Amino acid sequence: MIDLHCHILPGVDDGPTSLNESLKLARFFVADGITVVTATPHCHKFIHLLRADILPHVAAYNRELKAAAIPLTVLPGSEIQVYDSAVYRREFDEDVFCHLGDRRTHTLLEFSWDADKFPSDSVELIEWIRSREMTPIVAHPERHHYFREQPKLLQRLVDAGAWVQITVDSLLGNFGPEAKDFGQQFLRTHHEAILASDAHNAKRCSGLSAGYAWVKEYLGPDRSRDLFDRAERVQISLMSDEVSLPSFQAKAG
Ligand SMILES: [Fe+2]
Repeated sequence: MIDLHCHILPGVDDGPTSLNESLKLARFFVADGITVVTATPHCHKFIHLLRADILPHVAAYNRELKAAAIPLTVLPGSEIQVYDSAVYRREFDEDVFCHLGDRRTHTLLEFSWDADKFPSDSVELIEWIRSREMTPIVAHPERHHYFREQPKLLQRLVDAGAWVQITVDSLLGNFGPEAKDFGQQFLRTHHEAILASDAHNAKRCSGLSAGYAWVKEYLGPDRSRDLFDRAERVQISLMSDEVSLPSFQAKAG
C-alpha cells in the first residue's frame, strides 16, 4: 500500500518530534503493509515548508530508514494550504512547492479550517492547476465543517477537476460522527477519491489497512479495490522515470 498524506519526518512540522518517534511510526506502517509513503509536511502561513526545505529532510530520513533496516520508502511532498490564491499561484509558478513525489502530476491542497478564509476563487484555482496538467487533491474535506454544511462548495471543486483525499481515521469515527458520515457519503457517490492516513505520530494513526477493510465492509469490495488501484496509479506516476523532474536548485545562503 502507498500512503499519500502523512507527517512522518522527524522534527519538521507537527509530526514526530524525534527520530525515535518517527521510526516507530515507520515500523507501524510496515507492519500495516505500507511500502511507500509520501511525506507531506505542512506548507501554510505558519509552517511554510518548500522544496528546498523538504528534499534534504527526505533524503536524510531515507538514510535513517536504511540504517534501521526498515523496508519503507519515503517520497517528498507537502500539504499546501491555500490561504491566498494569488500567493499560491505565484509560488507555484516560482516552482518552490514540493508537490507529491516532487513531480508535476499530483498536488495535495488543504483549505483553511476557517470558512471565512475559503478563497472565493477556489474553483478558478482548481481549473488553473488542472490547466497545468496536474491533479489537485483536496485534503480531508470531511473534516471541514463548511464543506459538510455546504457540500456544493466541494462539489464545485470536484466538477472543476479536483480529487479528494479522505482520512482513514475519519471513516473509523475518530474525528466525530459528522466527519465519518460525510466521508462515507462522499465515497458512496464519488470515484475521484483516495484514502490516506494523515498520520502525525504512532498514536494519531490507524494505518491504511483498517481504512480499506472499512470500505470493503460498508461500501463493498469493488469500492475498496477502486480506491486501492487509484492510489497505486498515483504511486506509479510519482515513481516513474518517464516523468521529468523539475530541476532542484538550493537557495543560496
Ligand atoms: Fe496533514
